[in-house]
Order: sequence, then C-alpha cells, then structure tokens
Amino acid sequence: AQSNNPFEAIGGKDVIDQLVESFYSKVQKHPLLTPIFPDDLTETARVQKQFLTQFLGGPTLYSDEHGHPMLRARHMPFPITPQRAHAWLQCMNEAMTDIGLEGPVRDYVFERLTQTAHHMINTST
Ligand code: HEM
Repeated sequence: AQSNNPFEAIGGKDVIDQLVESFYSKVQKHPLLTPIFPDDLTETARVQKQFLTQFLGGPTLYSDEHGHPMLRARHMPFPITPQRAHAWLQCMNEAMTDIGLEGPVRDYVFERLTQTAHHMINTST
C-alpha cells in the first residue's frame, strides 16, 4: 500500500519497534556511544519509539508525555561530536539493513535522521 505518511509507509508500530530495538543493540556495543548512554537502554528505547513515531507522522506519543521535543536542548548534557553523530547514524543504517527496511522510504527516513543528527552536534571534541 502507498502512503504519504512515512510512519504508515515504513510499516507502522511494529517496524518502529523492531528498528529501535535493533538500533540500541548496536548503540550498546559502539565504543564512541556507550560512554554517554545509560547501561540499561529500556527507557531510552521506549522514549525513542515514541519520538520516531511522531517524527514520521504517526500519533504524537512523544509530545503527549514529554511536551515539546526541543531535541537539541535535551542533548546538550551529552558531548556530541561529529564522530558521535556519524556513529549514531552508522548504528541506524545497520539497524535498517537488519530489519529489512529498503527502498525510497528507507532513503527518506535516513535522510531526515541525518539532518537531525547533524543538528545535535554540540562540540568539536
Ligand atoms: C536521548 C545521544 C541523535 C532522539 C539521547 C540520550 C543520549 C543521546 C545520550 C540520553 C539517553 C537517556 O538518558 O536515556 C545521541 C547522540 C546522537 C543523537 C550521540 C548523535 C547525533 C539523535 C537523533 C534523534 C535523537 C538524530 C532523533 C531523530 C533522541 C530522543 C531522546 C534522546 C527522542 C530522548 C529525549 C528525552 O529524554 O525526552 N540521545 N542522540 N537523538 N535522543 Fe539522541
């Protein structure tokens, strides 16, 4: 089925859940990322599922619970270097491959995440 809503186009809740689970299993192993993430990523994953659902045009789960995303401000406590942004995107790219997300919708979502990741960079070292 075709859809102009990226959340529907990628396959809705089930696919967001799979993507986020796969993503954090990689974050948990990435030497540049583990120092800034909590050891237990259960809550992080829950919130990221809410965020990505909303970001891609699904229900506003994130804002309903947490208010305005203010993503850059919420990332300020963590030193996000260009290398860390690249590592984050690398984990996401691998997760997309692992769950079999392919085609134009993958490219579209990855492009939007790339822009957002670059916006999160808040230090050069
Ligand atoms: C939270 C790192 C990019 C969405 C966090 C946290 C860290 C982090 C350390 C806190 C986790 C916790 O305490 O549970 C990074 C790094 C990035 C990055 C290194 C590299 C650029 C992104 C991008 C998005 C995003 C591109 C969205 C597309 C979120 C959300 C939260 C979060 C929604 C939870 C905010 C909240 O507490 O309400 N991130 N992040 N992050 N990140 Fe990122």
